[in-house]
Amino acid sequence: MKKIRHQSIIKKHAGDILSCEQMDIEKKCIQHGSYSVYDHSLFVTSMCITLSKKLHIKVNERALVRGALLHDFFLYDWHEPTKANRIHGFTHPGIALRNAEKVFKLGKIERNMIKRHMFPLTPVPPRCREAVILCLADKICATYETAGGFRKRLKKKFRRTDKNA
Ligand SMILES: [Fe+2]
Ligand SMILES: [Fe+2]
Repeated sequence: MKKIRHQSIIKKHAGDILSCEQMDIEKKCIQHGSYSVYDHSLFVTSMCITLSKKLHIKVNERALVRGALLHDFFLYDWHEPTKANRIHGFTHPGIALRNAEKVFKLGKIERNMIKRHMFPLTPVPPRCREAVILCLADKICATYETAGGFRKRLKKKFRRTDKNA
């Protein structure tokens, strides 16, 4: 797992989210490669903070952190081969939003972040800066996590080939 930056900012704004009981489900469910949904959500949140700082984009930091942490709050294993999971990519932002609203009080920014984070797979674009940043951060992190798994498999394969040579 990659070391998570900005941990104090994340804890300051979203300690209640990090310690909520639903996070136990996120910790058990794999997102990409060896990253659980929980690891992925933390990584994406930290990437959102990094992007907003590096690109000097003025944001509502609290909303950015909370929306990013909750963007994949769908709370099931999307790798299970069920009919519903075939369209997970399209449906999970709405499910995550409904789940998050049951547990936390969300503002307009957080709602837009969660609902629109899969753009352009889901066709309606994000409407605020925080949601655009999340959209970008999610793709960067997902690529890194997936490529990490691919790198590991490749290394293993070459190690095996070396032994057989
Ligand atoms: Fe997602
Ligand atoms: Fe995500």
